[in-house]
Amino acid sequence: MDAKQFVDEKTEEIRQTVGGQRALVALSGGVDSSVVAALGHRALGDRLVALFIDDGLMRQDEGPMVAEAFATLGIEVQIQDRSEQFFAVLAGITDPEEKRKAFRDTFYKTLGAAVRDSGAKFMLQGTIAPDILETKGGVKTQHNVLEQIGLDTAVYGLAILEPLRELFKPQVREVARELSLPESIAERMPFPGPGLATRIVGEVTPERVATARAATVIVEDELSALQPFQCMAVLLSDRATGLQDGKRIFGQIIVVRSVESEDAMTATPTEVEWDVLRRIQERICAEVPGVIKVLYDLTPKPPSTIEYI
Ligand code: XMP
Repeated sequence: MDAKQFVDEKTEEIRQTVGGQRALVALSGGVDSSVVAALGHRALGDRLVALFIDDGLMRQDEGPMVAEAFATLGIEVQIQDRSEQFFAVLAGITDPEEKRKAFRDTFYKTLGAAVRDSGAKFMLQGTIAPDILETKGGVKTQHNVLEQIGLDTAVYGLAILEPLRELFKPQVREVARELSLPESIAERMPFPGPGLATRIVGEVTPERVATARAATVIVEDELSALQPFQCMAVLLSDRATGLQDGKRIFGQIIVVRSVESEDAMTATPTEVEWDVLRRIQERICAEVPGVIKVLYDLTPKPPSTIEYI
């Protein structure tokens, strides 16, 4: 792929398809949606509405960070807090696929409403090739492959454009560099659409998300020097007994996962130094309330997936 040619072609395609109308892009902070936003802005200028829906499942300070990064490109990002809606539908759900479905339905309803409010007739989406391949292969229901999940976009009043659907991650990053996206975005680890919900086994509640989020900050902080393909903290639904301040408590268990991969289709665990793992354990137990045990996941993909739900 020639990144410059790709950018020129897709810019023209978006311009032609959207015509004089407005389009909306929902940013997640990840490289895929960021590239789509930059392409959309190049094609449409102010007729692109860049929206960040805060679903309550994002990493620490994600919204302000995205807004700041895009401001440097001259793109204004609107932030809408919809976390209460997401937590309300996720309450009580423990089954992984039900959780994904609840997220997906709420995501598209929220987005549909935002599109209608904005007057946009099109939505730009950062679906990439592995999303489609894995969903077709039945490996996972990816929330962003519309045809596969039988979502009638007419119900939501949108036409969807997916300019990156033929690309794999390394190519997306090439395009990001071509579009002069800041390195903090172009080289960022992938982060799934349903956010921290994919890293919480059992019910997703604001308290449990806060635990996973606080542990994520530590994992990313300690492992970023190794530049893994992806690293994360996962909150299990099991508990374990431990000692805190001389008392026995039945505490939370965090799994640290870090993987190396080319395209997320297969992955191997990062060979992290013992000292680094020990520091992660010490920090999580000391800094994240209620956590009593920290584990490191040694499993490649397959048989495991990268995420936990
Ligand atoms: P798995 O867990 O299936 O993940 O091995 C493969 C890659 O896809 C990401 N992922 C998602 N991305 N929506 C997304 O946009 C999703 O629903 C989703 N589920 C998993 C995951 O982070 C990994 O990079």
